[in-house]
Amino acid sequence: MKDSKVTTAVFRTKKSEGWPISMLTAYDYPLAQLVDEAGIDAILVGDSLGNVVLGYNSTIPVTMDDMIHHTKAVTRGVNRAMVVADMPFLSYHVSTADAIRNAGRLMQEAGAQAVKLEGGHEVADTIKAITDAGIPVMGHLGLTPQSVHQMGGYKVQGKDEEAAQKLLADARAVEEAGAFSLVLECVPSPLAKLITSKLGIATIGIGAGADCDGQVLVTHDLIGLVGGFSPKFAKRYINVREDIKGAMQTFRQEVEEKSFPAGEHQFGMDEEVIKKLY
Ligand code: KIV
Repeated sequence: MKDSKVTTAVFRTKKSEGWPISMLTAYDYPLAQLVDEAGIDAILVGDSLGNVVLGYNSTIPVTMDDMIHHTKAVTRGVNRAMVVADMPFLSYHVSTADAIRNAGRLMQEAGAQAVKLEGGHEVADTIKAITDAGIPVMGHLGLTPQSVHQMGGYKVQGKDEEAAQKLLADARAVEEAGAFSLVLECVPSPLAKLITSKLGIATIGIGAGADCDGQVLVTHDLIGLVGGFSPKFAKRYINVREDIKGAMQTFRQEVEEKSFPAGEHQFGMDEEVIKKLY
């Protein structure tokens, strides 16, 4: 399962055979290449683009044009991984026709192999309509950042019995509507485990414990490219921010003391030619 293109069929096989699925975000060509070369199964062009690349304080300002632009850059860098593009806020809420058209643009114009959208029962008809149009859909439940104002902040979801029942029912609705997989974000681990055991489709967790069928992280968290607050689940594997800043400071210092560019960074020319120009 290492070298051929990852498809929805691979997700199904991995779920049924118990092979964990890996997914990371990317929003541009060089990081997409690295994620693909690292052998990650799926690349999510998340609307977290808004937070970690565009400098917004939520995902709400992200537009379809932003998603198309960045998904195009990602798909140009990928050979093997499945590219999943997020449907941004209001791109699937206004009408079903709009939702199909926008999901279709992410595939046709940007080259994604699947789309992701947030919500449960309330978007089940939309998921069905998009999948009926031949577009694979990944669901997203638990903490759904596009509803941050309705949820009253970025909080763990499904903690009491009523909320947990609703999450389970929503997960079933997403599966019945035809989604091929489901992201569970900020859900207590025992609830994510239960949902994973009840669904035939793969669950991909972020802050949802070790018993999901797969895991996703925002790459900028994983490599330490963003400063400031980082959620508990966002394991930082390296801290490139410090290395990059160090390299930039060294460049500035070398420019100021005129030790850069050195001889090996320069182009020469025939001395006779330059003499004539003086
Ligand atoms: O936009 C995103 O990066 C996401 C992940 C957090 C799952 O939706």
